[in-house]
Amino acid sequence: MRPDALLDSYLLEHTTSVDAQLEAIERWAHLHTAQPQMLCGPYEGRLLTMLCSSLQARLVVEIGSFVGYSTICLARGLAERGMVHAFEVNDELEDVIHKHLSLCGVDDSVLLHMGDALTLLPPLLASWPEGVDMAFVDAGKRQNRQFYDLLVPKMRPGGIVVVDNVLWDGKVFDEKKHHDADTLSMRAFNYYVQRDGRTENILLPVRDGIMLCVVK
Ligand SMILES: C[S@@+](CC[C@H](N)C(=O)[O-])C[C@H]1O[C@@H](n2cnc3c(N)ncnc32)[C@H](O)[C@@H]1O
Repeated sequence: MRPDALLDSYLLEHTTSVDAQLEAIERWAHLHTAQPQMLCGPYEGRLLTMLCSSLQARLVVEIGSFVGYSTICLARGLAERGMVHAFEVNDELEDVIHKHLSLCGVDDSVLLHMGDALTLLPPLLASWPEGVDMAFVDAGKRQNRQFYDLLVPKMRPGGIVVVDNVLWDGKVFDEKKHHDADTLSMRAFNYYVQRDGRTENILLPVRDGIMLCVVK
């Protein structure tokens, strides 16, 4: 076994395990989708649940639901009467997301918005004076900065924006070797966040890297 695969299994062995429903959803993604690796998985999913519950989150935004796995993890950490507003642009996933939400019993605490979050999100953000407690950005990777700039002014102080895949398979820090557009865009995003005085940030090596930004 590769050392990083050994590490991954050790991390999972020492993390509260997921239930049969989430396992079934992950299996479903492997059987029925072309890119099952897009799903955040049990380790990162546990962190999302814990962050939501530590924040006692009542208003959560998720950009990029895919088959609903991370949506469910977020919903499970909500405070009473909390709500996850999840966005997904791929219409073909609508029924399956609803099926998975209901399988996990969180359909009442998730509002699924089908369409491009760049269009759908701004009017909703304007209608929430209380501010967003937590946001998980996991959609078009070149749009990270647009989503981040939409969200940051609408977060409550102490609210957290989590952006996924910021290590981009290690390509962001191997500057001499990787110059493709996606890598350059992810590098530029990390550079931008690092210099943004509105948040305190920490880049955590969780899975493919998450940028965790606490809004001042
Ligand atoms: C990496 S997957 C999300 C995985 C999911 N967060 C999880 O961990 O289980 C990215 C998803 O974002 C969706 N997406 C991409 N751009 C989007 C946009 N502008 N608005 C809403 N959804 C978008 C894609 O269709 C895809 O299903």
